[in-house]
Amino acid sequence: MNTIRFGRLGFILAAAGSAVGLGNVWKFPYMTGENGGGAFVLIYLLTITFIGLSLFLAETVMGRLSRGDTVTAFETLAKTHQNYWKYAGFIIITGVLILAFYTVVIGWILKYVVLSFQTLPSTVEVAGGLFGGMVTTDTYGQLGYFTLAFVLCFWIVSRGVKAGIEKVNLFMMPLLILILLTLLLYAMSLSGFGEAFSFLFKPDFSKLHSSSVLAAVGHAFFTLSLGMGSIMTYGASLPEKENLFRSSIMVAFIDTAIALVAGMVIFTFLFHFGAQPTQGPGLVFVSLPALLSSFGLLGNIIAIAFFTALAFAGITSAVSIIEPVVMYITNRFNLSRMKALLILGVMTYGMGVLALMSNIETLKASVTFFGKGFFDILDFMSSSIMLPLGGMLVALFVGFFMEKQTLQTLLLPYMSKRLFAIWYLSIRYVTPVGVLCVMLNKLFF
Ligand code: PFF
Repeated sequence: MNTIRFGRLGFILAAAGSAVGLGNVWKFPYMTGENGGGAFVLIYLLTITFIGLSLFLAETVMGRLSRGDTVTAFETLAKTHQNYWKYAGFIIITGVLILAFYTVVIGWILKYVVLSFQTLPSTVEVAGGLFGGMVTTDTYGQLGYFTLAFVLCFWIVSRGVKAGIEKVNLFMMPLLILILLTLLLYAMSLSGFGEAFSFLFKPDFSKLHSSSVLAAVGHAFFTLSLGMGSIMTYGASLPEKENLFRSSIMVAFIDTAIALVAGMVIFTFLFHFGAQPTQGPGLVFVSLPALLSSFGLLGNIIAIAFFTALAFAGITSAVSIIEPVVMYITNRFNLSRMKALLILGVMTYGMGVLALMSNIETLKASVTFFGKGFFDILDFMSSSIMLPLGGMLVALFVGFFMEKQTLQTLLLPYMSKRLFAIWYLSIRYVTPVGVLCVMLNKLFF
């Protein structure tokens, strides 16, 4: 039984810190660029509202009711077959896979914070060479930054839920929001702002690819940290009288707002320089520094602010991936927090090194399986298979295998009967069917 509780703002900021990550600032803008803009954003927003939010509330409810790790949550809340349901708690394993490549990317970002103090690459070609060179040839440099990112995240979690996780989020989240809002204010003064606004908010359905709908659904999932027990674990530390419904809405709102602000900032810079939005994952690491270089010193300042914000976003998310596993090990095996971190650390560090090696030209052959590098395998396995599967399990569990009465007793003080009925319908049918579509699409198309 977990007896540690977040403070008043603690849960919202920690959950928002988990949700707001590389998915918002790095992935969302390039996905929007690749999927034609406004129409994609509209579907993403609808998905957050109708699927993401329901699932977020479901995970929070499970954590809050069980006050335990994910395995305990499934075990104690199941109406029947507790012995089987407890295995659903192993959705936390997805976190081990995500963490391995996520910390490699945070390492890249830390390096870009340092690079932002130097002369920025003057053209997209130079920037592309710099980024490509780092990822495909610089083994030791990457290893250094990866290790730094890794140690930083584990150190934060080692300090505990309140002195570590809550404190870091209370500091990093407001700062991240401040940096992004300042960048947004500056972007408003640039000529590309109007075009960026239309690109993001004027849906043009003719530009939507067939796979965009499902890409938007999948991303709504990843961005809210759903399907691997992070939100459930934070839910276990919710204050006694927290309004679960309101906090879920707040977190989903903060997460969405930050993705939109990051999108506005990045697209304003792109359009200001007449660049194309369809540049894929290199958008932030390649196009942005090159564009900013023409601003001189101001460009450096913007780059430093931007990559620092991105590092904060990544770290607060990584921390939320570590905590569920640590909580499971400490609760179920009676081990100390330090020992739990050591076990998880050894596992994920090794996998992270393999992921990093799989991008290095001279080393990749030994870490490529079925034609895919280990880095891509981790990404694919976690985002395309395991997270949706975890989300579906949670939805089906809450919808069909928990006592409805228990859910009503917890939630009805915070939401009307009608809203509860809508949520229940969504968690039983809309969410599982939606998730199934995402999975089938990713696996077979
Ligand atoms: N929500 C994070 C992002 O958008 O980058 C990623 C993430 C964090 C996914 C925690 C899953 C998770 F459990």
